[in-house]
Amino acid sequence: MKFFLDTANLDELKKGAAWGIVDGVTTNPSLIAKEGNPIEEQVRKICDIVDGPVSAEVVATDFEGMVKQAHELHAVHPNIVVKVPLTRDGIKTCATLSKTGIRFNVTLCFSASQALLAAKAGATFVSPFVGRLDDLGEEGMALIRSICGIYKNYGFKTEVLAASLRSPLHVVQAAQAGAHIGTLPFKVLDSLFNHPLTDRGLEQFLKDYNKVFQETGAPR
Ligand code: G3P
Repeated sequence: MKFFLDTANLDELKKGAAWGIVDGVTTNPSLIAKEGNPIEEQVRKICDIVDGPVSAEVVATDFEGMVKQAHELHAVHPNIVVKVPLTRDGIKTCATLSKTGIRFNVTLCFSASQALLAAKAGATFVSPFVGRLDDLGEEGMALIRSICGIYKNYGFKTEVLAASLRSPLHVVQAAQAGAHIGTLPFKVLDSLFNHPLTDRGLEQFLKDYNKVFQETGAPR
């Protein structure tokens, strides 16, 4: 399973990248807006930090506008993956330009039928949102399982990028479902490290080791 960071914050990206386990980045207009820089400037900086696919989302909603912005974003850096919403114009943009070599992440996917459209349009990634379905009382993870099963049936190349993951349990369940990628807010990635038995075990190991060597004065 690949781990992407779902943030446009450069400090978070630097910290995550330093751990050596971050494979890419996803952004959306809300995350870019939080950082206060224009999208092209911010994603260029992100590409300097993380060596992997970096999703940058169009803000146009019509086909012509999306095509123009897709070309502009694609020109920023070879690692850019253009993110389009799962609308008629978004799918048309993806179907038209994926043939030219521009990679697409089709986002705001909330059903298996929508995910079929993204695969048929040649998307590199489809982003089903788990947490936002949970928020409505639906089981978001059931969607990940369903899409992974359908894509497997037909050998679709589109990778399932589980998004809107809010907890370590979401990450593990997405992995069990077979999601190719999980995109995680920094806080969730950081929380994957935590286990009280790891802390307690390490403390005891060091205590035992230091006690003997302190008592005997033997070299460590
Ligand atoms: O980037 C899209 C997605 O991951 C958003 O997550 O928590 O705002 O639903 P959330």
